[in-house]
Amino acid sequence: MMTNEELILKINKVRKEKNAVILAHYYQEPEIQDIADFVGDSLDLSRKSADTNADMIVFAGVHFMAETAKILSPQKKVLIPDPGAGCSLADSCPADEFKKFRDRYPDHIVVSYVNTTAEIKALTDITCTSTNAVHIIKSIHVDQPIIFAPDRNLGNYLNSITGRDMVLWDGACHVHEEFSLEKIMALREQHPDAKLISHPECQRPLLIASDFVGSTSALLKFTQQDPAKKFIVATESGILHQMRKYNPLKEFIPAPPIDSTCGCNNCKYMRLHNLPKLYASLRDEKFEITLDEEIIKKAVKPIKRMLELSN
Ligand code: 13P
Ligand code: SF4
Repeated sequence: MMTNEELILKINKVRKEKNAVILAHYYQEPEIQDIADFVGDSLDLSRKSADTNADMIVFAGVHFMAETAKILSPQKKVLIPDPGAGCSLADSCPADEFKKFRDRYPDHIVVSYVNTTAEIKALTDITCTSTNAVHIIKSIHVDQPIIFAPDRNLGNYLNSITGRDMVLWDGACHVHEEFSLEKIMALREQHPDAKLISHPECQRPLLIASDFVGSTSALLKFTQQDPAKKFIVATESGILHQMRKYNPLKEFIPAPPIDSTCGCNNCKYMRLHNLPKLYASLRDEKFEITLDEEIIKKAVKPIKRMLELSN
C-alpha cells in the first residue's frame, strides 16, 4: 500500500501529464481538499467547470456536481473517483414523479437547486445554489408563480426571506435533517460566546435559532469576517477544515446530529472519495460521467441562465 506522500507525488505527476484539473467540494476529506486545484461551493465549482482549460476534470464531489461539470463542458472527460457518490437530496426527487408534479401547475416556472439529477435539470427553467438562491428568486417577477425543488427546507427558508409562496417539492438531505436542536441548544449553554451558523438545508427551528444562515462559502466567509472567536457549525463537518485553515485562532465545534453514533453530519456520499481512489481515477480515467446528448441540450439552459443571473 502506498503512503499518502507517495500517492500525492503520483497524483501530481499524472494530473500534469494528462492536463487534468481536480475540483473538490468543501465536504471532502481534508487530504482531498489539500490536493485539489480548486476547492469551493456548488456555484464556484460549476463556474470553474465551465471556465477550465484542462482536458479532463476529476470531480471530488457528488454525482450531480460532476454531471453539472459534464453539462457545462461536454467535450471534456469528467471523472468521479467513486461512482457511488450520490446525494440523498437529489435522490428524493425522481424525474418521472417530478414531471407529474410539475404538470399539475402549468402556469408555474420551475426553479431547482443544483442538487438534482440531469433529468430534473432538463425539466427546470432556472437552477440555483444556496449561494445565489435568494438573488435568483428575487430576479423573477413577483406575479410569476414558482415551483421550487427538491429541498423543502431551503424552499421554506427562501419563502420566508423573499415573501414568496413557492410550491415546494417535499425533498430533504439526510445530513442536514439529522441535526439535534436539543443537543445544539445544550452546546450553546456550555459555550455562550459561540455563534451558531447553519446551512439553509437545515430544518426551520434550527435556522430560526441560528445567528447566521448561508451556503458553505457564505458560512466560511462569515467566520472570517465576524469578530466571534467560537462557532457551532451546522452543516457537513468537512467545511471545518477550511474554517480552521483561514482562522487558526478561532474554535469550531461541529453541531451534533440526533444519533451521534451514526456520524450523520458527515455526508456518506461525499466521504466515499479518498487519495487512492483519486489516483486510480486519474490513472485509469475512471469513472467517466456520460450523459445523453438530448438531456445535455435541455439541462444546460437552466444552468447557463443561473450563471448569467449570478454574474
Ligand atoms: P453548497 O452549495 O452550499 O456548497 O452546498 C452543497 C451541498 O450539497 C449542501 O449539502
Ligand atoms: Fe447531498 Fe446532503 Fe450530501 Fe449535500 S450533504 S451532497 S445535499 S446528501
